[in-house]
Amino acid sequence: KRPAGAPDPALARKVGKVGVVGAGLMASQMALLFARRLEVPVVLTDLDQARLDKGVGYVHAEVDKLLAKGRASQDQANRLKALVSGSLTKDAFADADFVIEAVFEDLAVKKQVFREVEAVVSAECVLATNTSSLSLTEMGAELAHPERLVGFHFFNPVAVMPLLEIVKGAATDDVTLATAFATGRSLRKSSVLVKDAPAFVVNRLLTCFMGEVVAAVDEGTPLEVAEHALDGLGLPMTPFALLQLVGPAVGLHVAETLHAAFPDRFGASGNLAKLVAAGKPGVYRPDFSLDPD
Ligand code: CAA
Repeated sequence: KRPAGAPDPALARKVGKVGVVGAGLMASQMALLFARRLEVPVVLTDLDQARLDKGVGYVHAEVDKLLAKGRASQDQANRLKALVSGSLTKDAFADADFVIEAVFEDLAVKKQVFREVEAVVSAECVLATNTSSLSLTEMGAELAHPERLVGFHFFNPVAVMPLLEIVKGAATDDVTLATAFATGRSLRKSSVLVKDAPAFVVNRLLTCFMGEVVAAVDEGTPLEVAEHALDGLGLPMTPFALLQLVGPAVGLHVAETLHAAFPDRFGASGNLAKLVAAGKPGVYRPDFSLDPD
Protein backbone atom coordinates (compact mmCIF):
# COMPACT_ATOMS: atom_id res chain seq x y z
CA LYS A 1 0.00 0.00 0.00
CA ARG A 2 1.30 3.44 -0.94
CA PRO A 3 2.05 5.56 2.19
CA ALA A 4 -0.12 8.65 2.64
CA GLY A 5 1.18 11.52 0.51
CA ALA A 6 3.73 9.39 -1.37
CA PRO A 7 3.85 10.06 -5.13
CA ASP A 8 3.56 7.46 -7.90
CA PRO A 9 6.33 4.87 -7.21
CA ALA A 10 6.96 4.63 -10.96
CA LEU A 11 8.62 8.07 -10.74
CA ALA A 12 11.45 6.73 -8.55
CA ARG A 13 14.99 6.80 -9.92
CA LYS A 14 17.33 3.85 -9.52
CA VAL A 15 19.97 4.21 -6.80
CA GLY A 16 23.22 2.53 -7.83
CA LYS A 17 25.64 4.31 -5.54
CA VAL A 18 25.24 6.15 -2.23
CA GLY A 19 27.33 8.91 -0.66
CA VAL A 20 27.23 9.61 3.08
CA VAL A 21 28.60 12.90 4.40
CA GLY A 22 29.96 12.35 7.87
CA ALA A 23 31.36 9.17 9.36
CA GLY A 24 29.98 9.53 12.87
CA LEU A 25 27.58 7.26 14.71
CA MET A 26 24.43 7.89 12.63
CA ALA A 27 26.38 8.15 9.35
CA SER A 28 28.24 4.88 9.76
CA GLN A 29 25.09 3.03 10.86
CA MET A 30 23.35 4.42 7.76
CA ALA A 31 26.25 3.40 5.50
CA LEU A 32 26.00 -0.18 6.71
CA LEU A 33 22.23 -0.27 6.18
CA PHE A 34 22.50 1.13 2.63
CA ALA A 35 25.19 -1.40 1.71
CA ARG A 36 23.31 -4.27 3.29
CA ARG A 37 19.86 -3.58 1.87
CA LEU A 38 20.61 -1.85 -1.46
CA GLU A 39 23.76 -3.88 -2.15
CA VAL A 40 25.40 -0.89 -3.81
CA PRO A 41 28.72 0.89 -3.19
CA VAL A 42 28.58 3.39 -0.32
CA VAL A 43 31.22 6.09 0.19
CA LEU A 44 31.62 7.90 3.50
CA THR A 45 33.38 11.27 3.67
CA ASP A 46 34.58 13.19 6.71
CA LEU A 47 37.02 15.91 7.66
CA ASP A 48 40.01 13.74 8.52
CA GLN A 49 41.36 10.24 8.09
CA ALA A 50 40.93 9.33 11.77
CA ARG A 51 37.15 9.94 11.62
CA LEU A 52 36.89 8.06 8.34
CA ASP A 53 38.80 5.10 9.73
CA LYS A 54 36.54 5.07 12.78
CA GLY A 55 33.38 5.08 10.61
CA VAL A 56 34.59 2.34 8.26
CA GLY A 57 35.92 0.42 11.27
CA TYR A 58 32.46 0.56 12.86
CA VAL A 59 30.91 -0.89 9.69
CA HIS A 60 33.46 -3.72 9.60
CA ALA A 61 32.89 -4.52 13.27
CA GLU A 62 29.09 -4.62 12.78
CA VAL A 63 29.51 -6.87 9.73
CA ASP A 64 31.62 -9.22 11.87
CA LYS A 65 28.76 -9.31 14.40
CA LEU A 66 26.29 -10.21 11.64
CA LEU A 67 28.65 -12.99 10.57
CA ALA A 68 29.02 -14.27 14.13
CA LYS A 69 25.22 -14.29 14.57
CA GLY A 70 24.73 -16.21 11.33
CA ARG A 71 22.91 -13.26 9.75
CA ALA A 72 25.47 -13.04 6.96
CA SER A 73 27.59 -15.70 5.25
CA GLN A 74 31.35 -15.21 4.94
CA ASP A 75 30.83 -14.25 1.28
CA GLN A 76 28.15 -11.71 2.14
CA ALA A 77 30.31 -10.29 4.93
CA ASN A 78 33.27 -9.87 2.56
CA ARG A 79 31.04 -8.25 -0.04
CA LEU A 80 29.50 -5.89 2.50
CA LYS A 81 32.91 -4.77 3.74
CA ALA A 82 34.06 -4.21 0.16
CA LEU A 83 30.99 -2.08 -0.62
CA VAL A 84 31.71 0.51 2.09
CA SER A 85 34.69 2.81 1.62
CA GLY A 86 35.91 6.15 2.93
CA SER A 87 37.09 9.20 1.00
CA LEU A 88 38.48 12.49 2.23
CA THR A 89 37.07 14.36 -0.77
CA LYS A 90 33.54 14.62 -2.06
CA ASP A 91 34.78 13.91 -5.63
CA ALA A 92 34.01 10.30 -4.78
CA PHE A 93 30.30 11.28 -5.00
CA ALA A 94 30.57 12.20 -8.71
CA ASP A 95 28.64 9.11 -9.85
CA ALA A 96 26.39 8.79 -6.78
CA ASP A 97 22.60 8.79 -7.18
CA PHE A 98 21.74 9.45 -3.53
CA VAL A 99 23.86 11.50 -1.11
CA ILE A 100 22.78 11.82 2.50
CA GLU A 101 24.35 14.04 5.15
CA ALA A 102 24.55 13.30 8.86
CA VAL A 103 26.86 16.07 10.03
CA PHE A 104 26.59 18.43 13.01
CA GLU A 105 23.09 19.87 13.51
CA ASP A 106 23.84 23.38 12.34
CA LEU A 107 21.98 24.93 9.41
CA ALA A 108 25.02 26.84 8.11
CA VAL A 109 27.21 23.72 8.23
CA LYS A 110 24.61 21.64 6.39
CA LYS A 111 24.13 24.35 3.74
CA GLN A 112 27.88 24.44 3.18
CA VAL A 113 27.98 20.64 2.88
CA PHE A 114 25.25 20.67 0.23
CA ARG A 115 26.96 23.47 -1.69
CA GLU A 116 30.08 21.31 -1.89
CA VAL A 117 28.12 18.19 -2.81
CA GLU A 118 26.10 19.98 -5.46
CA ALA A 119 29.33 21.10 -7.15
CA VAL A 120 30.29 17.46 -7.68
CA VAL A 121 27.15 15.38 -8.29
CA SER A 122 24.93 15.10 -11.36
CA ALA A 123 21.72 17.13 -11.62
CA GLU A 124 19.70 13.93 -11.01
CA CYS A 125 21.38 12.96 -7.74
CA VAL A 126 19.03 13.08 -4.74
CA LEU A 127 20.33 15.09 -1.79
CA ALA A 128 19.02 13.85 1.54
CA THR A 129 19.46 15.12 5.08
CA ASN A 130 19.19 13.18 8.30
CA THR A 131 18.45 16.35 10.26
CA SER A 132 16.25 15.75 13.30
CA SER A 133 14.77 19.22 13.52
CA LEU A 134 16.04 21.79 10.99
CA SER A 135 13.91 23.26 8.18
CA LEU A 136 14.26 21.57 4.79
CA THR A 137 13.09 24.65 2.98
CA GLU A 138 15.76 26.83 4.62
CA MET A 139 18.42 24.19 4.03
CA GLY A 140 17.67 24.10 0.30
CA ALA A 141 17.25 27.84 -0.15
CA GLU A 142 20.61 28.39 -1.83
CA LEU A 143 20.82 25.16 -3.81
CA ALA A 144 20.88 25.32 -7.61
CA HIS A 145 18.38 22.42 -7.56
CA PRO A 146 16.38 22.58 -4.32
CA GLU A 147 13.80 20.24 -5.85
CA ARG A 148 16.13 17.27 -5.21
CA LEU A 149 16.55 17.92 -1.48
CA VAL A 150 14.55 15.67 0.85
CA GLY A 151 14.53 14.87 4.57
CA PHE A 152 15.41 11.25 5.34
CA HIS A 153 15.35 10.98 9.10
CA PHE A 154 16.48 7.75 10.77
CA PHE A 155 16.22 6.80 14.41
CA ASN A 156 18.97 5.36 16.54
CA PRO A 157 19.85 2.45 16.40
CA VAL A 158 19.41 2.71 12.64
CA ALA A 159 19.52 -1.05 12.10
CA VAL A 160 16.70 -1.64 14.56
CA MET A 161 14.25 1.30 14.57
CA PRO A 162 11.58 0.61 11.95
CA LEU A 163 10.49 4.16 11.12
CA LEU A 164 11.80 6.69 8.63
CA GLU A 165 10.50 10.26 8.53
CA ILE A 166 10.55 11.55 4.95
CA VAL A 167 10.36 15.33 4.81
CA LYS A 168 9.18 17.37 1.83
CA GLY A 169 10.51 20.91 1.62
CA ALA A 170 8.71 23.67 -0.25
CA ALA A 171 10.65 22.84 -3.44
CA THR A 172 11.00 19.03 -3.20
CA ASP A 173 9.65 17.43 -6.37
CA ASP A 174 7.79 14.15 -6.87
CA VAL A 175 10.69 12.31 -8.51
CA THR A 176 12.83 13.02 -5.44
CA LEU A 177 10.06 12.02 -3.06
CA ALA A 178 9.31 8.84 -4.99
CA THR A 179 13.03 7.93 -4.94
CA ALA A 180 13.11 8.57 -1.19
CA PHE A 181 10.09 6.31 -0.58
CA ALA A 182 11.48 3.56 -2.86
CA THR A 183 14.83 3.76 -1.04
CA GLY A 184 13.07 3.59 2.34
CA ARG A 185 11.23 0.47 1.17
CA SER A 186 14.47 -1.15 -0.01
CA LEU A 187 15.96 -0.39 3.41
CA ARG A 188 12.92 -2.22 4.89
CA LYS A 189 11.79 0.81 6.85
CA SER A 190 8.25 2.00 7.11
CA SER A 191 8.28 5.55 5.80
CA VAL A 192 5.92 8.36 6.67
CA LEU A 193 5.71 11.71 4.93
CA VAL A 194 5.92 14.49 7.50
CA LYS A 195 5.51 18.22 7.19
CA ASP A 196 8.58 20.47 7.13
CA ALA A 197 7.91 21.71 10.66
CA PRO A 198 10.32 22.11 13.61
CA ALA A 199 11.44 18.64 14.78
CA PHE A 200 8.91 17.03 12.40
CA VAL A 201 6.70 14.59 14.34
CA VAL A 202 8.62 11.94 16.30
CA ASN A 203 11.02 14.32 18.01
CA ARG A 204 8.16 16.57 19.06
CA LEU A 205 6.61 13.67 20.94
CA LEU A 206 9.96 12.54 22.31
CA THR A 207 10.79 16.07 23.47
CA CYS A 208 7.40 16.37 25.20
CA PHE A 209 7.96 13.47 27.53
CA MET A 210 11.74 13.73 27.80
CA GLY A 211 11.41 17.44 28.55
CA GLU A 212 8.93 16.70 31.32
CA VAL A 213 11.10 13.97 32.85
CA VAL A 214 14.15 16.30 32.84
CA ALA A 215 12.01 19.13 34.27
CA ALA A 216 10.71 16.83 37.02
CA VAL A 217 14.28 16.02 38.08
CA ASP A 218 15.30 19.69 37.86
CA GLU A 219 12.34 20.48 40.13
CA GLY A 220 13.35 17.92 42.76
CA THR A 221 11.92 14.54 41.78
CA PRO A 222 14.60 11.98 42.65
CA LEU A 223 16.41 10.76 39.55
CA GLU A 224 15.69 7.13 40.47
CA VAL A 225 11.94 7.87 40.54
CA ALA A 226 11.93 9.81 37.28
CA GLU A 227 14.04 7.14 35.62
CA HIS A 228 11.23 4.61 36.15
CA ALA A 229 8.26 6.92 35.75
CA LEU A 230 7.68 5.74 32.18
CA ASP A 231 7.89 2.01 32.89
CA GLY A 232 4.11 1.90 32.81
CA LEU A 233 4.17 2.77 29.12
CA GLY A 234 6.28 -0.26 28.25
CA LEU A 235 9.01 1.73 26.52
CA PRO A 236 12.15 -0.31 25.79
CA MET A 237 14.48 2.16 27.54
CA THR A 238 14.41 4.38 30.59
CA PRO A 239 14.41 8.12 29.82
CA PHE A 240 17.98 8.89 30.82
CA ALA A 241 19.34 5.83 29.05
CA LEU A 242 17.53 7.13 25.97
CA LEU A 243 19.02 10.59 26.48
CA GLN A 244 22.45 8.97 26.49
CA LEU A 245 21.68 6.99 23.33
CA VAL A 246 20.39 10.00 21.44
CA GLY A 247 23.21 12.14 22.81
CA PRO A 248 22.48 14.99 25.24
CA ALA A 249 23.73 17.58 22.70
CA VAL A 250 21.31 16.33 20.04
CA GLY A 251 18.47 16.18 22.58
CA LEU A 252 19.27 19.74 23.68
CA HIS A 253 19.39 20.97 20.07
CA VAL A 254 15.96 19.51 19.33
CA ALA A 255 14.54 20.97 22.56
CA GLU A 256 15.98 24.41 21.77
CA THR A 257 14.61 24.31 18.21
CA LEU A 258 11.16 23.48 19.55
CA HIS A 259 11.41 26.06 22.33
CA ALA A 260 12.31 28.75 19.77
CA ALA A 261 9.41 27.77 17.51
CA PHE A 262 6.77 27.19 20.21
CA PRO A 263 7.93 28.92 23.43
CA ASP A 264 4.57 28.43 25.09
CA ARG A 265 4.57 24.69 24.46
CA PHE A 266 8.19 23.60 24.89
CA GLY A 267 10.55 24.51 27.71
CA ALA A 268 14.32 24.49 27.64
CA SER A 269 16.18 22.81 30.48
CA GLY A 270 18.97 25.04 31.73
CA ASN A 271 20.45 22.04 33.49
CA LEU A 272 20.63 19.98 30.32
CA ALA A 273 22.28 22.95 28.61
CA LYS A 274 24.80 23.17 31.48
CA LEU A 275 25.53 19.48 31.19
CA VAL A 276 26.17 19.73 27.47
CA ALA A 277 28.22 22.92 27.86
CA ALA A 278 30.40 21.12 30.39
CA GLY A 279 31.65 19.20 27.40
CA LYS A 280 31.59 15.74 28.90
CA PRO A 281 27.93 14.84 29.10
CA GLY A 282 27.66 11.84 31.33
CA VAL A 283 24.64 10.44 33.13
CA TYR A 284 22.20 13.22 33.98
CA ARG A 285 22.43 14.34 37.60
CA PRO A 286 20.13 16.89 39.18
CA ASP A 287 23.11 18.47 40.96
CA PHE A 288 24.91 18.85 37.59
CA SER A 289 27.73 16.57 38.65
CA LEU A 290 29.00 14.51 35.77
CA ASP A 291 29.36 10.80 35.73
CA PRO A 292 32.98 10.11 34.74
CA ASP A 293 31.80 7.68 32.03
N1 CAA B 1 23.20 -1.34 16.14
C1 CAA B 1 22.72 -2.47 15.60
N2 CAA B 1 21.92 -3.32 16.26
C2 CAA B 1 21.63 -3.02 17.54
C3 CAA B 1 22.10 -1.85 18.17
C4 CAA B 1 22.93 -1.00 17.41
N3 CAA B 1 23.42 0.13 17.92
N4 CAA B 1 21.62 -1.83 19.44
C5 CAA B 1 20.89 -2.93 19.60
N5 CAA B 1 20.87 -3.65 18.44
C6 CAA B 1 20.19 -4.90 18.16
C7 CAA B 1 20.88 -6.02 18.90
O1 CAA B 1 21.98 -6.54 18.13
C8 CAA B 1 19.77 -7.03 19.03
O2 CAA B 1 19.61 -7.71 17.82
P1 CAA B 1 19.39 -9.30 17.79
O3 CAA B 1 18.09 -9.53 18.47
O4 CAA B 1 19.40 -9.61 16.36
O5 CAA B 1 20.55 -9.88 18.53
C9 CAA B 1 18.52 -6.14 19.21
O6 CAA B 1 18.87 -4.85 18.68
C10 CAA B 1 18.12 -5.99 20.68
O7 CAA B 1 19.24 -5.49 21.37
P2 CAA B 1 19.65 -5.91 22.84
O8 CAA B 1 19.12 -7.29 23.11
O9 CAA B 1 21.10 -5.68 23.03
O10 CAA B 1 18.98 -4.85 23.77
P3 CAA B 1 17.49 -4.39 23.93
O11 CAA B 1 16.51 -5.49 23.69
O12 CAA B 1 17.50 -3.71 25.23
O13 CAA B 1 17.29 -3.33 22.76
C11 CAA B 1 17.36 -1.17 21.85
C12 CAA B 1 18.13 -2.24 22.60
C13 CAA B 1 17.03 -1.69 20.46
C14 CAA B 1 18.30 0.03 21.74
C15 CAA B 1 16.06 -0.84 22.63
O14 CAA B 1 16.38 -0.52 23.94
C16 CAA B 1 15.28 0.30 22.03
O15 CAA B 1 14.52 0.11 21.08
N6 CAA B 1 15.42 1.49 22.64
C17 CAA B 1 14.70 2.71 22.20
C18 CAA B 1 15.52 3.43 21.21
C19 CAA B 1 14.83 4.67 20.72
O16 CAA B 1 13.82 5.12 21.22
N7 CAA B 1 15.40 5.25 19.67
C20 CAA B 1 14.91 6.50 19.10
C21 CAA B 1 15.72 7.60 19.63
S1 CAA B 1 15.24 9.15 18.91
C22 CAA B 1 16.25 9.32 17.59
O17 CAA B 1 17.10 8.58 17.29
C23 CAA B 1 15.94 10.47 16.68
C24 CAA B 1 16.57 11.74 16.86
O18 CAA B 1 16.59 12.47 15.89
C25 CAA B 1 17.08 12.26 18.12
